[in-house]
Amino acid sequence: MLFRLTALAALAATATASNATGPYALQITGKENADINGYAGACHSGAGIEALCYASGASLPPSVTQFYYNYTSYNTETGVPSQPGWITYLLTAGSTNGTITVPSAMQLDQSGWGTNVLTAQIFPGVESGTSVYQFENGTLYMYGGYDDSSFNATFPTPIPTLGNLTNFHLCYQFTGGYYYRSIAWVTTPPAHNPSCEPVDLTLVELS
Ligand SMILES: *[C@@H]1O[C@H](CO)[C@@H](O)[C@H](O)[C@H]1NC(C)=O
Ligand SMILES: *[C@@H]1O[C@H](CO)[C@@H](O)[C@H](O)[C@H]1NC(C)=O
Ligand SMILES: *[C@@H]1O[C@H](CO)[C@@H](O)[C@H](O)[C@H]1NC(C)=O
Ligand SMILES: *[C@@H]1O[C@H](CO)[C@@H](O)[C@H](O)[C@H]1NC(C)=O
Ligand SMILES: *[C@@H]1O[C@H](CO)[C@@H](O)[C@H](O)[C@H]1NC(C)=O
Ligand SMILES: *[C@@H]1O[C@H](CO)[C@@H](O)[C@H](O)[C@H]1NC(C)=O
Repeated sequence: MLFRLTALAALAATATASNATGPYALQITGKENADINGYAGACHSGAGIEALCYASGASLPPSVTQFYYNYTSYNTETGVPSQPGWITYLLTAGSTNGTITVPSAMQLDQSGWGTNVLTAQIFPGVESGTSVYQFENGTLYMYGGYDDSSFNATFPTPIPTLGNLTNFHLCYQFTGGYYYRSIAWVTTPPAHNPSCEPVDLTLVELS
């Protein structure tokens, strides 16, 4: 089963007290190919680990994974939260005491040292997640850092930077022990994996 519906409104309401907003759906918008527009849903990739699997379709599926945006910091005087934030997910798991909820977060991980494709997976724990920024329209981005593509012996002035990057891709890839069509981040496009297609990943509010 691809999607796991979180019937956890009460738990979610208490969780939002710690500067989390949502719930959101994670919308996939193909940058070069509108045919792949769809949504990302949590799919099993290991014990307590989920990948962000692809579901096609222009409209919101009836059962879509609910994500939250959990801010990394807030102003202690005003309480106003600030970016970046973690893309979080409330994993429900069975335990000896019944069902428990495990706050989990999206993490971008090197799937091997020979590729520029980082696999997006959701692991238990919020603060070990990869923190990301969102534009006003909810599209996720990250700072690119220094642009080292023309570095040489001369100190670079001005120091070139890569700006805001929206390098998410939809790829056929190994996520844990599974081979899925799922979300990844490509550090230096084009992707080493030829099945990867560039996409925007956007938080869409679920009412
Ligand atoms: C936000 O993060 C805190 C821990 O930093 C966690 O307790 C809370 O459940 C998280 N909220 C959501 C919606 O994931
Ligand atoms: C953010 O979280 C802090 C600590 O829980 C809280 O004091 C503050 O009111 C929260 N801010 C908002 C806007 O919810
Ligand atoms: C189950 O509940 C007991 C008593 O509250 C607690 O000590 C134990 O850690 C819980 N186990 C799990 C897996 O949550
Ligand atoms: C949201 O805005 C950003 C920055 O302007 C843009 O790159 C991105 O394509 C927009 N997202 C969508 C889904 O239109
Ligand atoms: C080093 O890079 C700078 C900026 O690209 C360029 O202007 C300069 O000519 C380069 N120097 C050498 C020795 O290649
Ligand atoms: C990155 O995006 C933020 C938010 O939209 C904007 O304030 C900032 O100027 C952007 N940076 C660059 C280098 O475009």
